[in-house]
Amino acid sequence: MDRRHAMKTLALGAAALPLLHRDAFALDAAAAAPAATPAAAPPAPTGPFSLPPLGYAFDALEPNLDAQTMQLHHDKHHAAYVNNLNKAVAGRKEVEGWSAEQLVRDLARVPEDIRPAVRNHAGGHVNHTLFWTSLKRDGAKRPAGELAAAIDQAFGSFDALRTKLDAAAAGVFGSGWAWLAADAKGALQVVPSPNQDSPLTQGLVPLLGLDVWEHAYYLKFQNRRPDYLAALREVIDWDAVSARYRDARKG
Ligand SMILES: [Fe+2]
Repeated sequence: MDRRHAMKTLALGAAALPLLHRDAFALDAAAAAPAATPAAAPPAPTGPFSLPPLGYAFDALEPNLDAQTMQLHHDKHHAAYVNNLNKAVAGRKEVEGWSAEQLVRDLARVPEDIRPAVRNHAGGHVNHTLFWTSLKRDGAKRPAGELAAAIDQAFGSFDALRTKLDAAAAGVFGSGWAWLAADAKGALQVVPSPNQDSPLTQGLVPLLGLDVWEHAYYLKFQNRRPDYLAALREVIDWDAVSARYRDARKG
């Protein structure tokens, strides 16, 4: 590549950067940075929370969800939520022994000075843990048992639920999630949330979350969120979602 071509390529690359979401850009920048000084990097924070394994290969959901996105999403983004959550709660006796779910559910009782960090990072940890365990290659294509009946009651049909979920996901402005959630009586609703907010904070039980942060799809789908959602819906394991509802009903 001659110098003029190289400069042009760099200029085009720089022009494209504002199109990327902030979190996607941060990862790209980190990936592009020279890894010359590993000894100077701070040690990984330790704490009560750890990154759960993905549970399947990064390429297990190809071609719907590409391996590179899955690896970055799990190993970098989810890991960052865990690390930052550990930093936020380090040395804080007020929340010692709390689970990540409890931190999100009882957010109002978390000390005010760490509440924003806990909201973002415990939320990110809990939301992604649920997300990974909702996906499967060749998983159940339809809900079963109590959940199937509850869906019919709340939305009229499974297809109507999927349409409503996709509309909620498509309508999230910026980063966030669309959820299928149950209230204390088992009634279902579709709710969007911004950033890493969880239905748990609203007293709901999340059953399925559609991650519409750009980090979930930008590498493969760029700005085509509806295409990502169409691919994502084919790898949702409705057996896992049905089991979650069954557990919620048991209390
Ligand atoms: Fe995500």
